[in-house]
Amino acid sequence: MKSVSPVNYELTFEPDFKKFTFRGQEKISIKISRPTNSITLHAAELAINQCSAWYNGKKIIPKIKLDEKAEELTLVFSQKISGKATLEIDFTGQLNDKLVGFYRSKYEYKGKEKHLATTQFEAADARRAFPCWDEPEAKATFDVSLLVDSNHTAISNMPVISKKNLGHKTLYKFNTTPIMSTYLLYLAVGEFEYISSKSGKTLIRVITTHGKKHQGKLSLEFTKQFLSYFEKYFKISYPLPKLDMIAIPDFASGAMENWGAITFRETILLYDPKTSSTETKQHIAEVIAHEIAHQWFGNLVTMKWWNDLWLNESFATFMATKAVDALYPEWDFWDQFLISEMIGGLSLDSLKSSHPIDVPVKSPSDVRQIFDEISYNKGGCVLMMLENFIGDENFRKGLHSYLEKHEYANATTEDLWNSLGSISRQPVRQMMNTWVRQVGYPVIEAKVKNSRLQLSQSRFLLENNTKTKQRNWIIPLSVRMQDKTVTKLMKGPVTIPYKSDWFKVNDGQKGFYRVKYDKDARDALGEQIEEKAISNVDRWSIHHDLFALCVSGQISFRDYLDFVKHYQDEDDYIVLSDIIASLNFFYIILSKEEFWNEIKEFNHDFFNKVFSRLGWDQVKGEKSTTALLRGQVISSLGRLEDEEIVAEAKSRFANLLKTGQLHPDLRGPVYSVIAWTGDSSTYQKMLGLYRKAPTQEEMVRLLSSLANFQDKKLLSKTLLFTLSKEVRTQNLFQPIARMVINPQGKELVWPWIKQNWKGIVSRFGVGNPLLNRIIGSVSIEADFEKEKEIKKFFTKHHVPGTEMKLAQTLERIRIHARFSQNTRKEFN
Ligand code: BES
Ligand code: ZN
Repeated sequence: MKSVSPVNYELTFEPDFKKFTFRGQEKISIKISRPTNSITLHAAELAINQCSAWYNGKKIIPKIKLDEKAEELTLVFSQKISGKATLEIDFTGQLNDKLVGFYRSKYEYKGKEKHLATTQFEAADARRAFPCWDEPEAKATFDVSLLVDSNHTAISNMPVISKKNLGHKTLYKFNTTPIMSTYLLYLAVGEFEYISSKSGKTLIRVITTHGKKHQGKLSLEFTKQFLSYFEKYFKISYPLPKLDMIAIPDFASGAMENWGAITFRETILLYDPKTSSTETKQHIAEVIAHEIAHQWFGNLVTMKWWNDLWLNESFATFMATKAVDALYPEWDFWDQFLISEMIGGLSLDSLKSSHPIDVPVKSPSDVRQIFDEISYNKGGCVLMMLENFIGDENFRKGLHSYLEKHEYANATTEDLWNSLGSISRQPVRQMMNTWVRQVGYPVIEAKVKNSRLQLSQSRFLLENNTKTKQRNWIIPLSVRMQDKTVTKLMKGPVTIPYKSDWFKVNDGQKGFYRVKYDKDARDALGEQIEEKAISNVDRWSIHHDLFALCVSGQISFRDYLDFVKHYQDEDDYIVLSDIIASLNFFYIILSKEEFWNEIKEFNHDFFNKVFSRLGWDQVKGEKSTTALLRGQVISSLGRLEDEEIVAEAKSRFANLLKTGQLHPDLRGPVYSVIAWTGDSSTYQKMLGLYRKAPTQEEMVRLLSSLANFQDKKLLSKTLLFTLSKEVRTQNLFQPIARMVINPQGKELVWPWIKQNWKGIVSRFGVGNPLLNRIIGSVSIEADFEKEKEIKKFFTKHHVPGTEMKLAQTLERIRIHARFSQNTRKEFN
C-alpha cells in the first residue's frame, strides 16, 4: 500500500464556454500511513492557484512543485503529518481539442455552432482535469458538483441530488459515487436531450445533442437487454441507480465505460433506419454490450495495475459476443468472432514484435500502446478456449466468485486463475500462464506415419527467418476424425492411433493456434471442404491457416491458390469473407508486380461466382450476414471493373442523387464502386453528399470513398481535405485506411505522412491512439527500401508511445517484401 492514499474527493468544476477554460476546486480526504512532509499527486496541464491542507484542525500551507514532464504535483510541508488530513486545491485548466482529459466537442444545430464539454480519463488523463492519484488501485469515492451556464445541463456518473439557481448559472450536485478508480470518473456540460426507460430499478437514458434523440431508440432497447442479461449471467445486480449512454460528436476511441455514464462516438450509438447499415446495427449492439460488461469487469472489479489491462478488455470483448449471441442468435456472433477477434489476434501475435498479454508497463505512454489486438483479441480468444476447456457453467461460476470476492477493489490475473481453478478443479493456472505470460502462440505440425497421427508444436511466426527459442504451450487439443473426436492436453509432442481417411486439428477453432498439414492431409481435407462434410468454422480455419502459412513463405502462393479452388461452391459467410479478404490482400500487396493481371483474373472469377448467388437485392428471409457478404463482393468486383457491377452501381447512384433512396447496406459498396470508376465531376458530387450528410455514419462512408478514386490528382485532393477543418480529428484516419488499400493511392500515403507528420502529431497530441493507427497504415508497403526509409524517418522524428506500433509496422513491411520476392520468383 502507498503511504498516502485518497479516501474521498469533493470536486467542483466551473467550465467557461467563452474562454474554453475551467476552474476547479477540490477537497481530498486522505489517509497517511507513514509520517511524511511531502505528498505527490498526478497533475498535468493544470495551473495551481491555491493549495492548503487541514491537519489536526489547523490549516497549513505547503510549498508546491509542478513537474510537467513527470505529470506530478508535489506538496512540501514544513512539518511531518500522518493519519487523516484534507487537501484543498484550487486550479484552472483548458477545455482542450485533443479528445483527452476535460475537452470540448463542436457541432452544429440549426445552423449555429455549438460546443459541449466532456471527459475521457482512461488510461491516465484524469490528471488533466484535477490533481489526483491517477492510478487504478487508488480507489476513492467522489462527490462531484458542476457550476454551469443556465442553458446548459450537467452529467456525471451518479444522479443529480440538487440543482440550485445562482444568477445566470446553475449548480448541479451529484450523489456520492461508489468507491472507484479515477479513470472511470465522468463529467459533461452542454445542451443535451434524451430518451429514457427503466430496466428493473435502473433508469436508462440515451443522451444526444439537440435534434438527435430519436436516433437513440435502438440503443435504448439494446441497453435494457444487455444490462439485464449481464445481471442474470453474473448474478450480481448493477449497483448504480442510473445508466446514461451518451453520444459525443468528437471522440477518440469507439466508446468508454465510465461508470454509469458511458460515452460513444455518434456512429456507435445513433441509428437511423433509413441510412444505417446492418453492419452498423450489429456493431452498435456489440459495443454497447462491451461497455456494459465493463460495468462489472473493470468498474466493479478493477485490475490492480495496467499490466493486467486484459482483465478489462479481453473480458469485455468476450462477454460482448456472449451477450449478443444470446439475444440475437441469428447473427451468428460466435462465427463472426473469428473474423472480428481471432484474425487480428493471430495476426499481431505472429510478429516477433508482439508482446505477452501480461506485459510490464510503467509510463502512461506504455499503457496507451497496449490497447491493441493482444489485450482485446488474443485475450478474448484465450478466454473462449478456457471456457470451452472447463465448461460454460464452471466458467460462469468462477467469474461470479471472482467478482464477488474482489468487488469495489482490485484484482490480478492470479486471482482470476484461483477462482476458475478452484471451481473447475482443473489445472487452470498452469495451462493459462503459457498463453498469458509468454508471447506468441503455437503452430501444430501434423502428419500420419505408421497408422499414427504425429503432432508437434513450435511458435508460429510470419517472419521466420531466424531460429527462435523453443517454447511450449499447454494446448487443449482436439482432433476430429471421420468417426470420432479426440481431446487431450498437449504439452509436448503427441501421437494418436489413426485409422481414418482424414483429420482436422483444432475442431471448431476453439483453440488459439494454427495447424500445418502435410500435402496428403491437406488434399484429404480439400475433399471434405467440397462435400461440406466439415463445419463452416472448420472450413474457415483450414483456409485461414493456409493463408498465414502462405504469407510466411511456408507454402507457395500457387499451392494456396490451387487449394482455394476447393471452395468453388462455398456459401458460408465467414468462410467466403475470409477468402475474399485474403484475395484482396494479395491484390493490393502484389499490385506493382508484372503478374498482377493473373491475380486479378483469379479474383474476378472467384468473386463472380459468389456474386451470382447473391445478386444486388436482399431476398426475403436471408441471413443478416448475407448483407455483409454482398457488400464485400460488390466492392471487390467494382475494384476489378466488372462491367455489370459498375453499370448497376452507376444507375443506383444516379437514382440516389435524384430520389435520395439507396438501401443502407448498399451505400458503402456503391460509393466505393462509383469512386473507383469516377472522375472529377463524380468527386464533386460525392463531396457534396459528404457536406450535407445527415449522420456521421454516412459522412464516414463518403469520406472513405473519397480515397477510392484512381486519379492521383483527386487522391491528393482527398489527402489535403483530410487535414482540413471539414474533417473531424476523430475521422482523420478513415480516408488513410482506405487509401492504403487502393493500388493507385497506396504510394501517396507515406509521402503524405512524412510531409505532414508535425501537423498530425500536434493535432492529436502526443500519446493519442489515433496516431498509432496512422503509423500502422503504412504496413501495407512491401519493399525493403521503404522499410529502411520509414525506420530512419521515425528514428529522427520519434514520438513517445509509438515504439511498439512502429516495430510491428516495420516487421510487417519486411514480411510483405519477402512474400513479394518469393512470389516473383514463382511467377516470373
Ligand atoms: N476502455 C475502452 C476505451 C479506451 C480505449 C480508453 C483506449 C482508452 C484508450 C473501451 O471499453 C473500449 O474498449 N472501446 C472500444 C470499443 C470496443 C467495442 C472494441 C474502442 O473504443 O474501440
Ligand atoms: Zn473496453
